[in-house]
Amino acid sequence: MTLSDSSIINKNLDRITLEAEFPAYKSSIKKAFEAGQAHILDWWDELTPTEKTNLLNRISTINFPLIKDLFNDTLLKVPQPAQGNITPPQIIPIPKDDAEKKIAQRARQIGENSLQKGETAIITVAGGDGTRLGINGPKGVFPITPIAGKSIFQLHAEKICAIQKRYNIQIPWYIMTSENNFPATQNYFQSHQFFGLDSRQVRFFNQGMLPVVDLQGNLLMDSKSTIVMSPNGHGGIIIALREKGILDDMKMRGIKNIFYHQVDNVLIKIADPLFIGYHVMDGAEMSLKVVKKSHPEEKVGVVVNVNGRLHVIEYSELSKEDMYAKNKDGTLKYNAGNIAIHMISIDFLEKIHQMGEAIPYHAAIKKVPFFAEDGSIVNPRKNNAVKFESFIFDILKYVRKGVIMEVIREEEFSPVKNMEGENSPATSRQDMINLFGRWLRNAGFSIPADHQGNVIGLIEINPCFALDEEELRNKVDKHLQFNGNLSL
Ligand code: UD1
Repeated sequence: MTLSDSSIINKNLDRITLEAEFPAYKSSIKKAFEAGQAHILDWWDELTPTEKTNLLNRISTINFPLIKDLFNDTLLKVPQPAQGNITPPQIIPIPKDDAEKKIAQRARQIGENSLQKGETAIITVAGGDGTRLGINGPKGVFPITPIAGKSIFQLHAEKICAIQKRYNIQIPWYIMTSENNFPATQNYFQSHQFFGLDSRQVRFFNQGMLPVVDLQGNLLMDSKSTIVMSPNGHGGIIIALREKGILDDMKMRGIKNIFYHQVDNVLIKIADPLFIGYHVMDGAEMSLKVVKKSHPEEKVGVVVNVNGRLHVIEYSELSKEDMYAKNKDGTLKYNAGNIAIHMISIDFLEKIHQMGEAIPYHAAIKKVPFFAEDGSIVNPRKNNAVKFESFIFDILKYVRKGVIMEVIREEEFSPVKNMEGENSPATSRQDMINLFGRWLRNAGFSIPADHQGNVIGLIEINPCFALDEEELRNKVDKHLQFNGNLSL
């Protein structure tokens, strides 16, 4: 069936009969028909009463005109690169001289004070489907640490425990999930007693879902009664924070700023006081950590100014010319790689809500299995579907004051994205081992490395033992010998 408006679902049922039978869903049924999506009811006669109700409930959550507009806007028009005068942004460098170190020291103190006053909450966005990693379930439960095989979630939880102990505080931790992974995420934390955290400090909330359409704009089904739905992007957090009462909860707890990060980065310095400090010190609305790009085509967004406003151009939307543009000294012109670690002020979020502005959606063309007309499940070999996602960093255009802080990739950024190759579990484990190896070397121990600089052997340091190099140096047994396998 195509996008034409049809009033007959099948020979036994028409729209009027359906609306009369389910008056509570009348307007949703009407909208589905008006949007030319009546094919989602093609198997109506074969459904059980529960399946019928579930399908109608799902239909009632769908904004059909929005989907039609998104499809028309994104697929039928040529995508537009960022418009305007694009320039590299101003960045706080990694401190080199005494003056820069002094400022950093001051920022750290301000960050520590803010943490101690209980002004910071942590938000982990973990609503993605993890399709590139090829796993079924939340990415956060993926076993990642080099020796103990702890999950990404456990690693984050232990870092939070450690920082809480250091500053004698409790930090509220909000985890954004999607319908697809909410129960599994919540059950995972419950069955592991929240990894030592207080269950009351951890709160899960769901982001919104949007239907997935085929290349003609028709909603895809994955069974006779279910529509293929996909999380609406991490930008969905903006609406979810308000709709799920999270912002109110934060305000009630006296939170002023959110430390935002993606679930997939295993080297994350959660609630980093230095970053918090720079953000607070400058009275910033939204701040970003960046690393120098490893190569022009690295799949990270780049932070730029567009007409004087902060902006992230996503890697998929950066022109080849800008990707390879160089400065006179041969370095990349657009080199500030977004590692998706932000500080966001609550006041700024409120401002966005009050403005009532919608964040734009980006279309991603993907391979999505679907339920075909003949009743079979098709696993397409070519791209067949469009998913719509909004991105958190699109709120940057409303930011009047933002801080960009450069950090050292090897210390803070190693995401788990793919099953193999770049940004895979293997590279993330090695990056963790190498980081611990450097800490130990700097503390005076001999740690062998191969010609690429990778530690030979396995090392795992529990964040509760040492959260950073300094803590390790103070705690580690001076007589320790590295025999190729070390757990601390
Ligand atoms: C993302 C950033 C990119 C950045 C890179 C750094 C986007 C669009 N791009 O790219 O600028 O340089 O990370 O690693 O984010 N998520 C949700 N809900 C969703 C979709 C995603 O919570 O609906 C979460 C995922 O669980 C994950 C994170 O967002 O934690 C990133 O999503 P992903 O699709 O992996 O982004 P990248 O393309 O890697």
